[in-house]
Order: sequence, then C-alpha cells, then structure tokens
Amino acid sequence: MIGRLNHVAIAVPDLAAAAAQYRDTLGARVGAPRDEPDHGVTVVFIDLPNTRIELLTPLGTDSPIAGFLEKSPAGGIHHVCYEVEDILAARDRLKAAGARVLGSGEPKIGAHGKPVLFLHPKDFNGCLVELEQA
Ligand code: CO
Repeated sequence: MIGRLNHVAIAVPDLAAAAAQYRDTLGARVGAPRDEPDHGVTVVFIDLPNTRIELLTPLGTDSPIAGFLEKSPAGGIHHVCYEVEDILAARDRLKAAGARVLGSGEPKIGAHGKPVLFLHPKDFNGCLVELEQA
C-alpha cells in the first residue's frame, strides 16, 4: 500500500542554522522557509536526488513539535512520510487493523498542498508516520 518515501522530517531548534548547514556544509539544494500555521511549524525543504528532507521548527505557542524539542533539545528525526495513492482507503485499512490516526482522523492539507494524515508512533515502532496522497 505505501509507496515512495516522500520525506524524512527533522525537528530543529534553529531553522536558519540547520538550513545553512545543509546548504553550505552538506552542499544540498535548500528551499526558503515557509510558515505552516495549520500545522504549527515553519518548514524548510531540502531536495535530494531520491527524496526530501523537511526541517521543522515550532511556529506559535502550541506547536505539536514543542514537546519533541523539549525532550530532544538538539533536535532529531521527527517523522517519516510515505506516499499512498488513496489516503482515505489507506486510513480505513489502517484503522481496521487497529492503528490510531492522530487528530480528527480527517486528512489535512500538508506542506505540499496534498492531503496528509499522521499515525500514532506507538503503533509504528516508535516512529511517527505521515501519509501523503501522491
Ligand atoms: Co512531513
């Protein structure tokens, strides 16, 4: 059911420093920062030949990644995003299998303008999973 790895997201305490490191030290193609108020984050996307890296930092007072950075102040891998063809079919299949979908269970529009859902990390080996309709 899942397809390509769309991106790996890394939560960072200092977005400008992390973006500069990927651009200048790692020599990657780094995009401009974008606020995603619906998701409580500011993101920078980094294009790699086979996938993307999404650098995330909190936006606003009740960011969903604030707690993550409290526990891991230096930052860390926050989630992986897999592509699916039909996000509602994927959600229903996962719910039937007992997996917990975060939030209302309805897809939100993600950072690429496509519907996304998040799956509870406790149901997936301690890793927060994002699904994006490709
Ligand atoms: Co993501």
